[in-house]
Amino acid sequence: MSRYWSEVVRQLEPYVPGEQPQIDGLIKLNTNENPYPPSPRVHQLLNEQACARLRLYPDPNSLQLKKAIAGYYQVQPDQVFIGNGSDEVLALLFMAFFKQAKPILFPDITYSFYKVYCQLFQVNAQVIPLRDDFTIDFADYPSENGGIIFPNPNAPTAMGKSLAEIESLLQRNPDSVVVVDEAYIDFGGESAIALIDRYPNLLVVQTLSKSRALAGMRVGFAVGNSELINGLDRVKNSFNSYPLDRLAEVAAVAAFEDEDYFQESRQKVIATRERTREQLEAMGFVVLPSQANFLFVQPPGDAAELMAYLRANKILVRHFSAPRIQDFLRITIGTDAEMEQLISVLRAR
Ligand SMILES: Cc1ncc(COP(=O)(O)O)c(C=O)c1O
Repeated sequence: MSRYWSEVVRQLEPYVPGEQPQIDGLIKLNTNENPYPPSPRVHQLLNEQACARLRLYPDPNSLQLKKAIAGYYQVQPDQVFIGNGSDEVLALLFMAFFKQAKPILFPDITYSFYKVYCQLFQVNAQVIPLRDDFTIDFADYPSENGGIIFPNPNAPTAMGKSLAEIESLLQRNPDSVVVVDEAYIDFGGESAIALIDRYPNLLVVQTLSKSRALAGMRVGFAVGNSELINGLDRVKNSFNSYPLDRLAEVAAVAAFEDEDYFQESRQKVIATRERTREQLEAMGFVVLPSQANFLFVQPPGDAAELMAYLRANKILVRHFSAPRIQDFLRITIGTDAEMEQLISVLRAR
């Protein structure tokens, strides 16, 4: 604590990312990264020519990437906003849409960055408890609100909502911005991008960090009505005109161009997830249904102790000591070999 800190900085409880170990040889199942590399096309295009162009500033609007995403999702480029990771897109949208007199709504158990952004940007929030079975029930969300945000599927529970449920939430809340954070949508959910033309208050946020294996590049985007995108642009252009560097834009466009590779790697993750789920259930774990690239599991014994045991055996998983979920672990889906190693270490205990 320094006397030079502002009052806001004094009050902050910053987000704590999962461990990025500096030692080799660990099986990393703690931060929901993709176990497979990005498309080989990314590697081909990040070449000497791309590096030579680094002396120039990037396109402040990342237009090539907007066009690639717009083409992929059958929307217009002016319905797409690009940011430096979806965390940045989320931060900008909190500033653009959530500074209202009324509180915004999000689940009590969810992506912990939402709470941090509320502190940072001084946004009032009302957290809505998940049901006892860890599902989100939109009937619990009051219509008096300054905005709504939730991940679909939710994190860390991995459980998703149907498009029909999201649509009825939108119908009940025409006056506030509803943000669907689809970081994990490609592993089994149904994207709400299909609804943006009908709901001018819907903003869908996605990332290339998970299903497209580009966490190290930091690319995220939002899709919504062009007026919402305009609002985001106003904030972005008051903060950092060039959120995406040249290499990141090239890599992201390449990732969207290689559909075969994308489908193949996401299907592999889904198949491994289902196999791991069965194996864990057979060992007495409670496993929540997952539409994501991770499993949220309640082991038979103490979860924190099990995490420490796995760490001692060179396997990293994530434990949250928050109320209601301290008996659970979040396990990212790795390669088949990594998950086999996890299962054999668990069996050896
Ligand atoms: C629900 C959710 N949203 C957003 C993000 C941020 O992703 P990124 O900033 O890598 O795009 C994450 C990362 O783990 C997440 O779990």
